[in-house]
Amino acid sequence: MTEPFLFSRRTNWPLEPNKLTVDLECLRNQEVQILDLTESNPTRCGFSYPQDDILKSLTEENNLSYKPSPRGDLRAREAVSQYYGQRGSQVSPDRVFLTASTSEAYSYLFRLLANPSDHVLFPRPSYPLFSFLGNLNDVRMETYPLAYDGQWNIDMESARHLFCDDTRAFVVVDPNNPTGSFLRREELKELTALCRQHNTALICDEVFSDFAFDRDQERASLLDNDQILSFVLGGISKTLGLPQMKLSWIIINGPQDLVKKASLRLEVIADTYLSVNTPTQNALPLWLSRRKEIQEGINARISQNYSFLKEETKKTRDCELLVAEGGWYAVLRIPDTYSEEEWALAFLNYDHVFVHPGYFFDFDSEAFIIVSLLTLEHVFQDGINRILKRISGGEL
Ligand SMILES: Cc1ncc(COP(=O)(O)O)c(C=O)c1O
Repeated sequence: MTEPFLFSRRTNWPLEPNKLTVDLECLRNQEVQILDLTESNPTRCGFSYPQDDILKSLTEENNLSYKPSPRGDLRAREAVSQYYGQRGSQVSPDRVFLTASTSEAYSYLFRLLANPSDHVLFPRPSYPLFSFLGNLNDVRMETYPLAYDGQWNIDMESARHLFCDDTRAFVVVDPNNPTGSFLRREELKELTALCRQHNTALICDEVFSDFAFDRDQERASLLDNDQILSFVLGGISKTLGLPQMKLSWIIINGPQDLVKKASLRLEVIADTYLSVNTPTQNALPLWLSRRKEIQEGINARISQNYSFLKEETKKTRDCELLVAEGGWYAVLRIPDTYSEEEWALAFLNYDHVFVHPGYFFDFDSEAFIIVSLLTLEHVFQDGINRILKRISGGEL
């Protein structure tokens, strides 16, 4: 008898779809109209894009020649530098590395910083893709808690105890998905001290940083912090609402000698793949020049949906809107009389409203649901009203 074929252990994922996904597909097959409050693909949310400018640059003749460069095309990196300049931070183009996605940027950084089974700290709750990224890059991932007391903060006491000798990177998501919480100056100060003490790099995922609900003087950015080796991640999937164009970046910062050493190694990693396509790099200066207009549409939608949630949840004691400071999502605390899964299945099967349960994002306790603020307003309002009605009825 032949032995069964062996796949890598890192791919031993549970591959069965969960009940929520199965029921959703079943309803869609029956052509039931579902109010999808999880939609976070901006290209499916009815925004108007400056279509001519986005497409025009793709047909230019210079897209026919290939001039590979590990850090990415200089004009594209200058455009990223200019984008940060407009936001008030000085970032020279030689600190910019282009990648095809933020997920790829994480992979490059884990390859740069960690040996197999070295330790990386991520926030909890946060985006579910992180556990796959850690897993695929052979790092030992552990989560540090965020705590909510009317606003979200890093539970610094717990985070401090999680650092160990082989903690190679500490990841902050700023603002976090889905809690919408920003990193505060005080937190950055403590993290800087901890990272310096343990020789740990700080990675700050700022993909949602253009979507802040208001100005806050306490908000911190790693772009101006050169005390430890750090990396800021951004990209056009969120900044321009163009995930299909596949372009992100890493900004490196820190003490000069470390930045130099890290940059040379990062160049080799990037040169091995050269994964960013030429047309997107050539188009980036024009695309970024139109960002205000794209972001206005997205911010208006987010603001309207968040205000609606605020108003509606004020009318009930059964559902609390957790305070968010930015990002594309809202978190609602609902009664724990049923599990998150039971609630989400009831919303789906009886009310035809699709939401994500908190456990998808590794919340410490139940019961929470997550909704996307990008959802078209009328769909959002109808969906939220149906959910609130079921919650106030108290029965599934
Ligand atoms: C916090 C965060 N980082 C990174 C990503 C992935 O971004 P990209 O499309 O650039 O890979 C996402 C996607 O939603 C995200 O929520």
